Amino acid sequence: MVSKQKSAVVEFEISNLIRNRRSIRAFADRSVELEKLKSLFEATRWAPSSINEQPWIYLYATKEQPALWNTFFEVLNDGNKAWVREAPVLIFSIARKNFSRFNTPNAYALYDLGAANSLLALQAVDLGLQVRQMAGYDHQQARVKLNIPDEYELGVFMAVGYPGDVNQLPEELKKRELAPRERYLQQEFTINGTF
Ligand SMILES: Cc1cc2nc3c(=O)[nH]c(=O)nc-3n(C[C@H](O)[C@H](O)[C@H](O)COP(=O)(O)O)c2cc1C
Repeated sequence: MVSKQKSAVVEFEISNLIRNRRSIRAFADRSVELEKLKSLFEATRWAPSSINEQPWIYLYATKEQPALWNTFFEVLNDGNKAWVREAPVLIFSIARKNFSRFNTPNAYALYDLGAANSLLALQAVDLGLQVRQMAGYDHQQARVKLNIPDEYELGVFMAVGYPGDVNQLPEELKKRELAPRERYLQQEFTINGTF
């Protein structure tokens, strides 16, 4: 198998919001202001979506709501629990499976949810925050414990907060946090023509 080429350098000019976004694991012991939380969700309002369906729903819990925060926390995988402990805000993103206008399946519901989540993450950077998304959770438990109706597809959990000290992380995670962030070169995924 030919290995694809990667680099840890930004090769062409990009916006600072994109450049500075990263999925952190170490969060500061500082709560997120309600206004800022509202800005994150506001950013998702302006995301593009198939026929402007806006299929996303965000459930969230803050550290100031310990029982609720714990309900979110408890369904995460152990690997995520190891670092999420300090995150002041947990968000669970889900998407309506059917178009509300026609009640027919929306094949792009999760696609649209991902787009909205990306805007949320970029807005976070603009506010000095960072987001780490998580697919590592017990999907069945999440549906039950968070009361998610069948009409909704499960997306990702997100840990949100201000960046903290990486030294607070377990050694293995600290190493991963400090490792260079490599990305495929454009030549590996762009095609100026047919496939
Ligand atoms: C759909 C999705 C699921 C993810 N699940 C997890 C997860 O369960 N645990 C975790 O630590 N990171 C998770 N991540 C974060 C990725 O590992 C991270 O985005 C990737 O390593 C690139 O790093 P960066 O976001 O800092 O550029 C997930 C990201 C996405 C988009």
